[in-house]
Amino acid sequence: MAPKLLEIKDLTVGFLTDKGFVKAADRVSLSLEKGQTLCVVGESGSGKSVTSLAVMRLIDYAGGVIAEGEIKFHGDELTNKPQDEMMRIRGNRISMVFQDPMSALNPVFTVGDQIAETLRIHKQMNAREAWNKAVDMLRLVGIPDPEVRAGQYPHELSGGMCQRVVIAMALACDPELIIADEPTTALDVTVQAQILELLQKLKRELKTSILLITHDMGVAAEMADRIAVMYAGAIVEEGTAEEIFERPRHPYTLGLLQSIPGLTGERGTTLYTIRGGIPGIGDLPAGCRFNPRCPHAKERCFREEPPLLPTPDGHRSACWLESGPEVKTS
Ligand SMILES: Nc1ncnc2c1ncn2[C@@H]1O[C@H](COP(=O)(O)OP(=O)(O)O)[C@@H](O)[C@H]1O
Ligand SMILES: [Mg+2]
Repeated sequence: MAPKLLEIKDLTVGFLTDKGFVKAADRVSLSLEKGQTLCVVGESGSGKSVTSLAVMRLIDYAGGVIAEGEIKFHGDELTNKPQDEMMRIRGNRISMVFQDPMSALNPVFTVGDQIAETLRIHKQMNAREAWNKAVDMLRLVGIPDPEVRAGQYPHELSGGMCQRVVIAMALACDPELIIADEPTTALDVTVQAQILELLQKLKRELKTSILLITHDMGVAAEMADRIAVMYAGAIVEEGTAEEIFERPRHPYTLGLLQSIPGLTGERGTTLYTIRGGIPGIGDLPAGCRFNPRCPHAKERCFREEPPLLPTPDGHRSACWLESGPEVKTS
């Protein structure tokens, strides 16, 4: 069997603090097949960015440590690769799109030059070839007058246009995987929808695989083939988008789903608001990490941590509840 595009197994990533080593991602396992979109969903602080930075090995520069686990890209182990080898992978075979396009672009170079630079480094193109390809990429991501826009600086473009430029840059070397960490969070709602539509189109036409990080279940609903729900450093539920939306098992997933207006009936009729907030890393309760906020927690949940186990319909959930939470509509 051919190895998966991306296979993460028991990945533990953390930081050395005055409390000792604290885990921001705790035995995370995820896998992504070619041409698919995997959404990692969870509230802010759940370890999504830390996990994605670990895949790129950029976590090394953020003060983080990969303590355990495997990250296999086409079967090739990334966790112990020297950074000079990672530099050949980053931006070339795996690209990243961050939340804030302005911080991803260099203000003193034209956007065309920035895309061309990536192509010169990774694809050894000469200046003219790289420039022409940069213009083509701007056209591909839907930027009007790409010949003119290529010669402009980031501040001359709107936020949405800049995010298109970042996506063009991420795609320039024809990567097999794009990791997009909250790519639309900094944009206003209409532009958000346009960027999501662009990612869908690129996935369809270029068959690029996407690891999409979002705090927004609505975004996952539109984009995901598979969904992994992350809470306080751990994957608590994982399955196809259909399984997660139709037959959620974990109370946290249900809470996230019910935060989407209109998804589970009239707004206000399905009162299942998740109380409280996410615990800080190094501050986890005993037993299930969700127990302080769970309306169904019972004795065992305070004692033993639930492993991620298969549910009756074949996806995975980490919860001791036997039947799974009910969606109450009265
Ligand atoms: N450089 C760092 N040093 C210490 N803790 C960090 C660092 N970066 C992130 N964290 C902590 O790791 C946890 C997960 O963060 P993050 O992955 O950014 O969450 P998310 O992307 O899901 O919002 C948070 O509690 C955050 O405070
Ligand atoms: Mg984040």
